[in-house]
Amino acid sequence: MMSWPEQVVRVQSLSESGIRAIPDQYIRPLSERPLFKLGSQFHRHVDVPLIDLQHLFGKDPTLHLDTLNRISNACRDWGFFQAVNHGVSHELMTRARQVWRDFFNLPLQAKQEYANAPTTYEGYGSRLGVVKGAVLDWSDYFFLHYLPVSLRNQSKWPMQPSSCREVVAEYGCQVVKLCTTLLKAMSIDLGLKEEYIENAFGGDNMGACFRANFYPKCPQPELTLGLSSHSDPGGITILLPDYDVARLQVLNDGDWITVNPVPGSLIVIIGDQIQVMSNAIYKSVEHRVTVNSAKDGLSLAMFFNPKSDLVIEAAEELVSEERPALYEAMTFDHYRVHMRMKGPCGKKRIESLKFNTP
Ligand code: OGA
Ligand code: NI
Repeated sequence: MMSWPEQVVRVQSLSESGIRAIPDQYIRPLSERPLFKLGSQFHRHVDVPLIDLQHLFGKDPTLHLDTLNRISNACRDWGFFQAVNHGVSHELMTRARQVWRDFFNLPLQAKQEYANAPTTYEGYGSRLGVVKGAVLDWSDYFFLHYLPVSLRNQSKWPMQPSSCREVVAEYGCQVVKLCTTLLKAMSIDLGLKEEYIENAFGGDNMGACFRANFYPKCPQPELTLGLSSHSDPGGITILLPDYDVARLQVLNDGDWITVNPVPGSLIVIIGDQIQVMSNAIYKSVEHRVTVNSAKDGLSLAMFFNPKSDLVIEAAEELVSEERPALYEAMTFDHYRVHMRMKGPCGKKRIESLKFNTP
């Protein structure tokens, strides 16, 4: 079985050991550090898209269209938006955060029982990618398969805290509903049949994975990242962020923009498969996470992916002589090998799929 190229160090243990300087493996090159200025960010004031989903499929046709329009603009211009009135219970969101906080607060020994390997990534992990000597991110995580049900193996989900499995299952169920609604809205906006994206992802066999990300306090947050720059390889991601500290940054027009999370909101992130399928009408967003010396952080991500053996390519309706298909067709299984081997790499993967245009 494939294993990690170096001994796994839990970032939480490092953080709790009280070190004043972070080990070299976590120090990013200058141009990738959080305070490095890429573009004009000193001068640009931007509001990131915030969308109220209450009327998305309500009775009022004007409000429906208005909501659809906002989603359309956000997916085309940003590749992400914050959503409120998203239908996921706030009480359940709070409970889900709490069980994962409780999990990461367990003694190391209890967590190590779930230590993961790079073959499936399922379980308790501390790195993405198997490149020896790579710069590492300042975070630990727990990754699990939620859908299809045939891949759901609850024995690999934490047994402690005792409500963990039940809460993850319930939370997942509500987020799946939100995802389905959003995929419908996106299909309609792209001029496709309402069920198009969902069906192209495999319908009832669509994949969904869950990752709880834990960002321990960091004594030198200016030198490292909690999660380095990447676009999500799958279809869409629904992220429950921390509300008390702004950590997530998105790349927009050459600047890293910090997302100030609206309490109760969920963040919707467009992934590479939607960019491929929409023939780049929608863009996946490059994003990263910064860390903090005063407060640790927790985020819960649900990734919705095409069934692993389906070939993903531009929808026929979005390909024409003037706008030929931009990316090579590929199964998601094949596509995600890159992320699994190399870890986060900005948007390198999708760019490598671009056909050479004469
Ligand atoms: C991810 C991700 C952002 C965050 O898990 O892919 O981008 O805030 N997470 O944890
Ligand atoms: Ni991401």
